[in-house]
Amino acid sequence: MANNRQLFLQHLAQTSPTPMSLEIVRGEGMYLYDPSGKAYMDMIAGIGVSVLGHCHPAVSQAIKDQVDLYMHTLVYGEFILSPQVKLAEWLHQHLPDSLQQTYFVNSGSEATEGAMKLAKRYTGRQEIISARYAYHGSTQGAASLMNPTTFTSAFQPLLPRINHIDYNNFADLTKITTQTAAVIVETVQGEAGVKKPVEGYLQALRKRCDETGTLLVLDEIQAGCGRTGSLWAFEQYGIVPDILLLAKALGGGMPIGAFISSREIMQCLTHDPVLGHITTFGGHPVNCAAALANLQTIEALDLIRDVPAKAALFKELLVHPGILDFRQAGLLMAVELAGFEQVLAVVDYCLKQGLITDWFLFNEQSLRLAPPLIITHDQIKDACKVILDGIQKTTA
Ligand SMILES: Cc1ncc(COP(=O)(O)O)c(C=O)c1O
Repeated sequence: MANNRQLFLQHLAQTSPTPMSLEIVRGEGMYLYDPSGKAYMDMIAGIGVSVLGHCHPAVSQAIKDQVDLYMHTLVYGEFILSPQVKLAEWLHQHLPDSLQQTYFVNSGSEATEGAMKLAKRYTGRQEIISARYAYHGSTQGAASLMNPTTFTSAFQPLLPRINHIDYNNFADLTKITTQTAAVIVETVQGEAGVKKPVEGYLQALRKRCDETGTLLVLDEIQAGCGRTGSLWAFEQYGIVPDILLLAKALGGGMPIGAFISSREIMQCLTHDPVLGHITTFGGHPVNCAAALANLQTIEALDLIRDVPAKAALFKELLVHPGILDFRQAGLLMAVELAGFEQVLAVVDYCLKQGLITDWFLFNEQSLRLAPPLIITHDQIKDACKVILDGIQKTTA
């Protein structure tokens, strides 16, 4: 009889020629476990998802409770479903007043798609601008925003009327005009290898959008929910977006995304045409219940307050001649090495030592670290030791 590894290779669509092929049977806290019982410390949190670690009891319990009440109904827009209402209210209570209404979807890509449609519909304009080296998702609309086109040129034609600016380039802001429906940027660029906005950039972007009547969409799908040291990364830059995108960490391990805007903007999805954006599963009650428990637990444990000290410990420990640069926005971190081959060798070494790391789409010379926020100081020390050993063994 075929084992799971063989079945995985035979029957699951692959996305790379050399999958990691790590079989997981259980997760708890910072650790994932393989069938032999070997523990792997998760330093990427399922790409920025599991901020509370794996199977946090509060999230698991909320899921079980909701499963026993009801699961799927007519999920979106018609019925009043308590898990959705409570989650949307929590979000509003923790956001600036203008971000008042939430549209729940299933993923980050869908949040991007919804925001692109909403901006076009609200402004009546067609052009959308995004920043180079950004990642907003893999569906065709979201993928149209991607530049360079390494990952998208095989899938042309994508959407027309998409233009690009360089992130952190003030001169490029003049490309935003009264023809531009929306500018979509990540508050902190993730897949570019953790690139933060320089002093004054987001404020200047906000100002240019105001001058041209363009909607500013901030993608916090990776940077939101506490990862950068504040609940929302934009809080650190003194600006408020017109539309905020969330997903990944929002659901505490369950699939949910959201685009959030003002009542005035969001209302235009109700008419001309009616059903401006619809979804069968978006805002699924079980996922909303999980998301609310996740956010309430992050708050109750005061986890975000500890992010700066934990981030500082990583910075203090990750010192080695082989580390060419170290960039971080809270616990979203990039360790720059000599090149992709070394990154792959370190990822491989760490995996053998029971530590899960990864690389970035648009910064292949950097090692990705984005652990659950529950990581302890001792676990940070253990993880850094393994990473440094890996770098030492692979530095020429
Ligand atoms: C900043 C950002 N936006 C959007 C997405 C797409 O999210 P999803 O994979 O849930 O569609 C990602 C995923 O990595 C992301 O990092």
